Amino acid sequence: MRLSTQQAIEQLLQGNVVALPTETVYGLAAPFHHIKAIEKIFQLKGRPLNNPLIMHLADLSQLGDFVIDWPEGLTALAHTFWPGPLTVVLPVDKQHVPSIVRAGLPTVAFRIPNHPLTQEILAKTGPLVMPSANLSGRPSATSYLHVEEDFGLEFPVVDGGPCQHGVESTIVLARKGEWHLLRYGAISIGQLGQVLHQPIEVSVHKRGDNGAPLCPGQLYRHYAPKAKLRLSPKEPPLEGCIIGFSDRTYPEGCLTFLWGDSHHPEEVSEKLYAILRDLDRQGIQSAWVDMRFPREGLWKTIHDRLAKAAGL
Ligand code: TXA
Ligand code: MG
Repeated sequence: MRLSTQQAIEQLLQGNVVALPTETVYGLAAPFHHIKAIEKIFQLKGRPLNNPLIMHLADLSQLGDFVIDWPEGLTALAHTFWPGPLTVVLPVDKQHVPSIVRAGLPTVAFRIPNHPLTQEILAKTGPLVMPSANLSGRPSATSYLHVEEDFGLEFPVVDGGPCQHGVESTIVLARKGEWHLLRYGAISIGQLGQVLHQPIEVSVHKRGDNGAPLCPGQLYRHYAPKAKLRLSPKEPPLEGCIIGFSDRTYPEGCLTFLWGDSHHPEEVSEKLYAILRDLDRQGIQSAWVDMRFPREGLWKTIHDRLAKAAGL
C-alpha cells in the first residue's frame, strides 16, 4: 500500500514500520528508540538478532548526539560522501542507542541517505534504523514492487521510484588508526582512498580481537534468488537461461536477461537485484551468468553480490 511522505511520517511517529526508498535499496524503517517497532522489523525480515542495524540520520549534526570518538578522516568522508551511499561504523555512548539496534556491540553503523523523500521524512521523524526491505537472504528491494513481493500488497511503502545505485551502501570502520572496508558497496575502495589518502584494508570477513566478526551481516547467505547461478568467465552455453550484457550477443536458443552495457557497471548494479528477482518470478531453476568483466571499482561490488547470490 503506497503512502505519501506525510502518512509515512505519521505512521513512523506512532511506532509503525514503513518501507522507504533510498538511493541504494529500499529499507524497512522504524524510529531508533522504538523497541517494539524494531523487534517487528527483525520478525518481519526473519533476521537474526545478532545482526545490527544501520542508523539513518537527516544530517551530520545528529552524529554528535551518539558518537564518543571522531576518527581522523571521518570529516573528510562525511563531507565528500554524505548524503550518499556510505555507512561508517563508530563507537557510541551505549546509553544513547538501544542494544537491539547495536546487537549488543559498542558501535553503531551510521549513514545519511540521499533520497529526497526519505530526507524529508528523516527531518521530521529523527534518526531511523533501516535494514534493506527484503526477507532475510533474498535479493534486496530496488522498487516498491519488490517490497510488496516480499511483505504483501498491504505493506506500507513510500514509492520513490527505482533506486539509483541498486546495491547497498559501502560500510567502513576506523580501527587503531586504520580504515577498514566491511562491505563492498556503491562507493568503491578507490573513491574512499582518494579522500582518506591512505590504503583501505579489506576486512570483509575479518574478526576483531574478541573473535567476533567485524561485520556480523557478512556471516549470512545474502542476495540469493531460488535459481542456481552458474558464474562463468568462459564462452556462454548454447541453450538455457543467460544473464549478460546488452552490448554482447548470446546464442539464439537462450533465454537472456540483460542487465546493461559491459562498459557501465552503474547500469548493471542498478538492475542486478531486479534481474535476480525476475528469475524467481519466471520460475527459472538455473542461470548462466556472464562474468567476463573487471574486478575493480563498482565491478568488485557486483562480483561480491553475485558470488553471495550463487552461494559461494
Ligand atoms: O544501503 C544500505 O546500507 C541499506 C539502505 C536501506 O540504507 N541498508 C542496509 O541495511 O543494507 P542491512 O541491515 O541490510 O545491512 C546492514 C549491514 C549488516 O551487514 C550489518 O551486519 C552491518 O551493516 N552492521 C550494522 N551495524 C554494524 C556495526 N555496529 N558493526 C559492524 N557492522 C554493522
Ligand atoms: Mg540487507
